[in-house]
Amino acid sequence: MRWTLQTKEQWNESSSDAHVLLVGKKDIQDGGVSAALDPVIRNLMDKGLFTAAPGKSYILPLQTADSLTTYILMGRTDGPMSSEELRLIAAQAAKAAIKIGAQSLSMDIPSTMQQFTLEQDVRVCAQALCEGFVLGAYRAKEYKRDGADKKQLQEVIYIVDSSVHESGFNAAWEEGAGWGQATGDAVILARDLVNLPGNRLTPDALASAASALAERHGMETEILDEHMMEQKGMGGVLAVGKGSVNPPRMIVIKYQGTDHWEDVIGLVGKGITFDTGGVSLKRAPGMEEMICDMGGSAAVLGVMEALGQLRPKVNVVMVVPSAENMPDGRAFKPGDIVTTMSGRTIEVLNTDAEGRVVLADGMSYAKELGANRIIDVATLTGAVGVALGDVATGAVTNDDVFMQELISSSRRAGEKVWPLPSYPEYWEMLKSDVADVKNSTGRMAGAITGGLFIGTFADGLPWIHLDIAGTAYMSKERGVNPKGGTGVMVRTITEWIRTQEM
Ligand code: BES
Ligand code: MN
Ligand code: ZN
Repeated sequence: MRWTLQTKEQWNESSSDAHVLLVGKKDIQDGGVSAALDPVIRNLMDKGLFTAAPGKSYILPLQTADSLTTYILMGRTDGPMSSEELRLIAAQAAKAAIKIGAQSLSMDIPSTMQQFTLEQDVRVCAQALCEGFVLGAYRAKEYKRDGADKKQLQEVIYIVDSSVHESGFNAAWEEGAGWGQATGDAVILARDLVNLPGNRLTPDALASAASALAERHGMETEILDEHMMEQKGMGGVLAVGKGSVNPPRMIVIKYQGTDHWEDVIGLVGKGITFDTGGVSLKRAPGMEEMICDMGGSAAVLGVMEALGQLRPKVNVVMVVPSAENMPDGRAFKPGDIVTTMSGRTIEVLNTDAEGRVVLADGMSYAKELGANRIIDVATLTGAVGVALGDVATGAVTNDDVFMQELISSSRRAGEKVWPLPSYPEYWEMLKSDVADVKNSTGRMAGAITGGLFIGTFADGLPWIHLDIAGTAYMSKERGVNPKGGTGVMVRTITEWIRTQEM
């Protein structure tokens, strides 16, 4: 999506297909919108057609002497708004634009942020708006034979007072908008990957998508096939992948933003391209949603896309263990004991707890490649959905300071992350009689024990686990998220990495 900054003088009604107008209840009382619009809006409000409350919108075509302007009225809170509200307003305006077939939008930006946003920061405001427009304009790909091309929102024009045009405003706006655009693109890349069905996204196809991304940005990749994984002793990924004709892959991308490959952030994403549960087969209703079981890998690939565009001074190694979990004559079975790259053994009690088994090797490999702190992202447990629904991502850690940092970043990014406890009693539950750990501990505290299983393989490195099983895939749209893949955690992790710049 393109965006431009124009002064009031440069702009006229015909510059865009529709004009976004933020209207709060107080604006109406004070008669503050415009002489032409005030009576119309007051009429709409008297009739109850538009309430100017946050989240409410109204499409208003207005004919004046010589031109027709379509206004998209968006309700807002009175007083300064949070960047989260701005992001949401932009997303809703984008959806309204698509509904009426508008391909370009314009929107007034006040010269002073003082009355506009709580943050009072031009950069933050620009980022929130650009992100919101990109996220709201997203549509999942359709595969219909006769599907017509629908009109897509392509351009947003931000209109500012000429008084600020030369000052530091422009530079700050440009920087913020750049971050917003890149982050938005990154989220969309993740959503598109999540929405690909299992027959169109195998582990090898996921590896190709990763290679293409890395090549676009001049980053180094390494793709391990099943033979190379065998040599490295990656018994976890190999066990999970054994039941499928689509062989597993270990996918690596390196982003080096400093002179030396030191102080490396590891991002490990679960890349199960389809999860049938394996021999511990899932029940049929809803199984189709398991196309989202590579949501963790989509999130970390999204972050790599953002890094490629923004080029911050940090080092990141992304590791995605990818497999398809199928029941088959060759598939791994309950009771199997598999040896991971770390040398630790896993007693497999349930083949449907496959994510932690592949991630065990992913963690070890990230460590071998130089990571000295790790975030893993995974659609790991149904239990996290029971605890937090599709609202918040559950998090587990071995480092509370690291966790607080990430949670602050999630707030700025407008995503919700909620920490779960990691008392020693929960670690105890992972112990197996015959192996080092067992992959299933039963129903109790499932989201925590699932996370801590992965933490075992952090081998003492600072580590955070993000369980996105509830938030990666939505059954209906809400806020900036569409139905289907959400690209959740791209924004939080990108925002956190930004705080790590040297
Ligand atoms: N991929 C699932 C978790 C999941 C559930 C993702 C719902 C998205 C939506 C995971 O592999 C799984 O099956 N977990 C099991 C673990 C159990 C067997 C210990 C679960 O949650 O039931
Ligand atoms: Mn499973
Ligand atoms: Zn799974």
